[in-house]
Amino acid sequence: MRKKLVAGNWKMHGSLAENAALLTALKPALAGIEAVVCVPFPYLAQAQVELAGSSIAWGAQNLSEQAKGAFTGEVSASMLLDFGCTYVIVGHSERRSLYGESDALVASKYMAAQAAGLTPILCVGESLAERESGVTQAVVARQLDAVIDAAGVGSLAQAVIAYEPVWAIGTGKTASPEQAQAVHAFIRSKIAALDAGVADQLVIQYGGSVKAANAAELMVQPDIDGGLIGGASLVADEFIAICRAAAK
Ligand code: PGA
Repeated sequence: MRKKLVAGNWKMHGSLAENAALLTALKPALAGIEAVVCVPFPYLAQAQVELAGSSIAWGAQNLSEQAKGAFTGEVSASMLLDFGCTYVIVGHSERRSLYGESDALVASKYMAAQAAGLTPILCVGESLAERESGVTQAVVARQLDAVIDAAGVGSLAQAVIAYEPVWAIGTGKTASPEQAQAVHAFIRSKIAALDAGVADQLVIQYGGSVKAANAAELMVQPDIDGGLIGGASLVADEFIAICRAAAK
């Protein structure tokens, strides 16, 4: 049995006071359930203090592909480790589209994360135009291949993949369970063709407008192993319900 894992992507939201209230609500409610919150860099220290000893892990939403040096404004993998991170999101569609991250850069970040012992949550997914022109699989395959070619298929044994159709992120338009399952199955079979053992154990999260109300029907799909949750991860009751639906 593969494990299920739900991760919250807080994006650029929160404050010390808001985070304290959210984490205080999550901790007892998620006791015994493995979950992750990916917080903005300045709040990593807060997450570390608040979540130490809980079943909730914490991580970042981005990292530098460089180890150290004159890279103003960047944050390295070893800095994330200093704050107890275990996960880091890599290649989120907002990073790809708003900040111009190429497949090659995403692959470099993925490798930098793994080299430091962090588990990358590698995001892949097609835009609406790509889906409508029938190239969803080709886009997802290209995004995966960039990482597999650079880091090897075996690297996926220490990674999580998040399938996030861009048209479903923050739009309220969730992929239907069937649409999501179809792409998840494609991802798993593509990886299985290279390494069946890795594919079988790989956690593939779905992301894009997941909320308490639609979590159960998504999480029950055979190739959906949890979720990457944006907006709903900022609302304690929503995130708790999603994590519980996945853990069932
Ligand atoms: P959403 O975001 O749940 O708000 O759609 C998901 C994500 O961007 O990771």
